[in-house]
Amino acid sequence: MTVSEAIKETTARLNDVVERPRLEAEILLAHHLGCERSRLLLRDRESLEKPEAFFALVERRCAYEPMEYITREVSFYAEEFFIAPGALIPRPETELLVDEAVKLIGQRGYRRVAEIGVGSGAISVTLARLLPDLRIVATDISQEALAVARKNLRRFGVEDRITLKETSLLEGVDPSRVEMIVSNPPYVAEGCDLEPNVSDYEPHTALFAPGDGTELLRRIVDLSAELEVPVLCEMGYDQRQPMEEYFRQKEIENYRFYRDLAGLDRGFIVDFG
Ligand SMILES: C[S@@+](CC[C@H](N)C(=O)[O-])C[C@H]1O[C@@H](n2cnc3c(N)ncnc32)[C@H](O)[C@@H]1O
Repeated sequence: MTVSEAIKETTARLNDVVERPRLEAEILLAHHLGCERSRLLLRDRESLEKPEAFFALVERRCAYEPMEYITREVSFYAEEFFIAPGALIPRPETELLVDEAVKLIGQRGYRRVAEIGVGSGAISVTLARLLPDLRIVATDISQEALAVARKNLRRFGVEDRITLKETSLLEGVDPSRVEMIVSNPPYVAEGCDLEPNVSDYEPHTALFAPGDGTELLRRIVDLSAELEVPVLCEMGYDQRQPMEEYFRQKEIENYRFYRDLAGLDRGFIVDFG
């Protein structure tokens, strides 16, 4: 089988599974061959090496495994991050949280920030790259996620400025290291139906939170109140109302929500600082 025949065959197999079967066929094949997608055209008559290994990848995609877990790469803030099962695949909307964090850190001149739920490290690594004076302590309860984050810290050369810690929230973190908290915690309501490519493959500890999904968000707000530092969190587009209710209960007034380009509420900033 040639490269061009493999693309055709894969496109046909993916046709009923994904929206852009030809594009995904090319991405999978380029990954298998270890070349840029743009090089495939030049190699179209080449005979495909290890076809069984390649079609094993195609079968994984046919079973709805996210492309990012297959290729072990994900784009975030215009960079390619390492990703693997066990860590949530960073989402484009989380780039907005980074933008909000950069603005606040810049305005206040903060140098010590904590991230709760570091996952792949996308947020902390991007902040450290954009802000060379920043030091971050980043926590997670998942060893698998921390292993992925560790690889990204090394990939981007920021391991001297980001400390990873396996703990819940900020337990055991020295409060003097925290001038601000940033977090994209699990916030999907337990029992909520998600697409199979998400619920069957991504870690549930990264996705789901008890009740209406706001439990961890509320605990993080409480923690930042205790530490008297501002907090920035991503949340679900439908969680503004329960969070506003919580702020009212706690007599918290200094907060604002930020929106995505579609006008949906995507997160909040509470200023205890
Ligand atoms: C939605 S993912 C976010 C990952 C990454 N920060 C991102 O934005 O792509 C939430 C992360 O929080 C972690 N997590 C869940 N409960 C936690 C807790 N109590 N303390 C610290 N991290 C927690 C999960 O393991 C997961 O890695």
